[in-house]
Amino acid sequence: MFEIVRKQEVAPNVHETVLRAPAIAKKARPGQFVIVMVDEKSERVPYTLCDWDRQAGTITLVVQEVGQSSRKLVLLQAGDEVAHLVGPLGVPLEIERFGTVALAAGCYGLGAVLGIARAMKAAGNRVVTVVEADSHYLHYFRAELQAASDEMIQTTIDGSNGTKGHALDVIKRKLAGGEQLDRVIAVGCLFMMMLAGEATKPFGVKTLVALNPIMLDGTGMCGACRVSVGGQTQFACVDGPFFDAHEVDWEEIRDRRVAYSDEEIQAVARSAPVERRRGHGCVP
Ligand SMILES: Cc1cc2nc3c(=O)[nH]c(=O)nc-3n(C[C@H](O)[C@H](O)[C@H](O)COP(=O)(O)OP(=O)(O)OC[C@H]3O[C@@H](n4cnc5c(N)ncnc54)[C@H](O)[C@@H]3O)c2cc1C
Ligand code: FES
Repeated sequence: MFEIVRKQEVAPNVHETVLRAPAIAKKARPGQFVIVMVDEKSERVPYTLCDWDRQAGTITLVVQEVGQSSRKLVLLQAGDEVAHLVGPLGVPLEIERFGTVALAAGCYGLGAVLGIARAMKAAGNRVVTVVEADSHYLHYFRAELQAASDEMIQTTIDGSNGTKGHALDVIKRKLAGGEQLDRVIAVGCLFMMMLAGEATKPFGVKTLVALNPIMLDGTGMCGACRVSVGGQTQFACVDGPFFDAHEVDWEEIRDRRVAYSDEEIQAVARSAPVERRRGHGCVP
């Protein structure tokens, strides 16, 4: 069992969750993830390692509530335990001195890029972090991302904070304006990551995206997370999650991800009642 040592709702439906997991904290590297089973009968759900504290033996996940399994997890409070936690999984991101590294993040990606920003900066890169959200109140980890970046730009679709538009609009404008970006890394919803590839391809900037297909075992054995990259079959859990955005077969991954949508929607109706959420404070 793995204890939740801290938990707070950092934006509506987005929960920073700190778990005691010393063995995982010891080995965690930027870009890796864990698989969580809330209880013995739960789904196995992958979450990115946003942060870790080797001394305290803790790891930090940012969980966006989208369906039954993420809801089960966010209903837990500090002191509660999850049944299983496997990790660190996946190939760590290559951290080198590339020059200027631009990070584009949306949804749970704002948390997922935090460890990457810190590591890229520590390696001597100029780190430009561009975060997107529909509105200002959905931006979280502002101070942490600001501290980890040389430049941080916030965008909102409704224009209520920072630049109006998407993170990729900013990246595109920078490239079109002649700014040198040596590497772009995008983490967010599938559509946003696909756009990252489209935005940078004409400029020949290497662009990595963290693919989020359905995963089961996380060991490369079940085939659930199969993706096609550069015409080759890859397993996101053991060959990824980061892949070259210019090489991904986006249509295939989109089709495979919605394979169980009907069942997932039915499952939400069976999950815990929303009254249990009382007492969750939302941090402004
Ligand atoms: C390597 C990896 C790392 C991940 N890291 C994180 C993370 O750090 N934080 C996090 O919150 N999630 C992360 N995810 C996504 C997370 O695993 C899924 O959101 C999770 O499966 C949702 O399970 P559920 O049962 O709650 O929702 P489901 O019932 O599976 O889905 C409910 C609804 O949400 C939609 N949905 C499912 N997954 C996503 C998604 N990724 N983005 C947007 N909509 C989705 C479905 O289409 C469906 O309509 C990661 C996925 C992978 C593969
Ligand atoms: S999750 Fe089973 S092969 Fe990747």
